[in-house]
Amino acid sequence: MNKPTLDHIGIAVKSLDAAKIYEALGLTVDHVETVTSQNVRTAFLSAGDANLELLEPTGPESTVAKFIEKRGEGIHHICFRVDDIESHLARLKSLGYRLINEAPVPGAHGCRVAFLHPSAGDGVLIELSEKS
Ligand code: CO
Repeated sequence: MNKPTLDHIGIAVKSLDAAKIYEALGLTVDHVETVTSQNVRTAFLSAGDANLELLEPTGPESTVAKFIEKRGEGIHHICFRVDDIESHLARLKSLGYRLINEAPVPGAHGCRVAFLHPSAGDGVLIELSEKS
């Protein structure tokens, strides 16, 4: 099993127009995609080895909409790319960490993703992602 690598930092925004500040910094939006399983529209900006993922809720039922309502816009999660998501989830669960997704769900870029419960990361929402 390879070491996980930082894939992206997820940022909750009311609108993907929030990309403007990063574009002003010289980054570019490489990919925009609606992820129906998460009720979000995402924009990815490559920043070297890792990316920024802007998350705009597609409706009030989106967990990102609820996040913004409660905590305002800002950093929402960090995501590690792993090469065997099932074994990571099984090991974390056996170690007693709470998972939001016990099995991977479809993410952006055709990846399979799973979120740990924020309590597992001491307030940091951690996403695991495996490229298909
Ligand atoms: Co993400």
